[in-house]
Amino acid sequence: MVSNAEELAKIKEEVTALALSPLYAYRTENGYVPVIGDGDHEASVMFVGEAPGETEAKTGKPFCGRAGRVLDELLASIGMDRKSVYVTNLVKDRPPGNRDPEQAEIELYGPFLDRQIAVMKPRVIATLGRHSMRYVFERYGLASELQIVSKIHGKEFKGSAPYGDVTVVALYHPAVALYNGGMKGQMKEDFQILKKYI
Ligand code: URA
Repeated sequence: MVSNAEELAKIKEEVTALALSPLYAYRTENGYVPVIGDGDHEASVMFVGEAPGETEAKTGKPFCGRAGRVLDELLASIGMDRKSVYVTNLVKDRPPGNRDPEQAEIELYGPFLDRQIAVMKPRVIATLGRHSMRYVFERYGLASELQIVSKIHGKEFKGSAPYGDVTVVALYHPAVALYNGGMKGQMKEDFQILKKYI
């Protein structure tokens, strides 16, 4: 049987070779690497951010810059060990200047996220940001529940994945706390919903 680690390594290989991506030239010109995901390959909780920032594109590790430190703090606030979860992004290459991912990029990289989900079969997918929220809700049977993140943050929804039921939780992007420090209390409260999955 092929292990999750082997399947995920294959996905990494394919994304690395993705020369048809509109973000590929920017990656190679800047010496960046794609960011596939990090953490426990058998995790039952998967966090899905938007796209790598500069620090992530330099290291290949998701959420390792300023927003990552906020994510670490939010995880620590519920006693969730980052090593016990899996963290990835919807788009695997850095968009220039950290702009929002474009629809064509989401359509190109989304299927790689779907494959990661199909391989790992997480019980919970927690989205970090509006693009990953929209993608996951639409893809996993929750299109009718979709609202702006300020309306549905911290709530759980029962979605359906090819392997069975999946709980989806929409969370604010950790960077929100960097430009609005007053939001951190709410964000910590939202994370409480994940506590039962530790
Ligand atoms: N923001 C994201 O959405 N993902 C990262 O990996 C880093 C910052």
